[in-house]
Amino acid sequence: MVASLRVALIWPWLAGAGLTCASDMADAADIHHGEGAFVRQCALCHTIDKGGPNRFGPNLFGIVDRRAGTIPGFHYSAAFKDTASWDWNVDALRGWISAPKQMVPQSPMSVFQGVSDRDRDDIIAYLATRK
Ligand code: HEC
Repeated sequence: MVASLRVALIWPWLAGAGLTCASDMADAADIHHGEGAFVRQCALCHTIDKGGPNRFGPNLFGIVDRRAGTIPGFHYSAAFKDTASWDWNVDALRGWISAPKQMVPQSPMSVFQGVSDRDRDDIIAYLATRK
């Protein structure tokens, strides 16, 4: 995953260099697909722009590698504040967006069923570009 995240991070640069989505880069996360999946599945509750407002969930700009539960002005649930003492690395994000209910059962995000395996890593790669 480290390798594919690295590919993900240089992807906008590659795209700028005139390369298109390459099927031989099978391991690479698809940021464009991840953005679409974010809009469909996360944007209802989360903004992602720098300085964007908190909605039902906190603004997610710069969330990758950030300490959980530290977005200013957002009122986290008691369950989340009690449990979420990790940094949002790729593994933590994978668990959370696949099955929030398993990581923090009482969190209000648990109403969200979680993303499919197909969308998961692309969404995380997209999040990693937003910082
Ligand atoms: C139904 C609304 C809802 C949806 C849909 C939703 N979330 Fe959330 N999310 C929340 C809420 C509410 C919280 C705060 C959790 C708490 O306080 O218990 C949260 C918290 C988070 C956090 C932790 C933020 C922090 O500051 O530690 C991340 C990361 C996150 N969501 C990512 C996502 C992603 C990515 C998606 C889409 C795949 C998504 N969420 C979909 C409501 C939602």
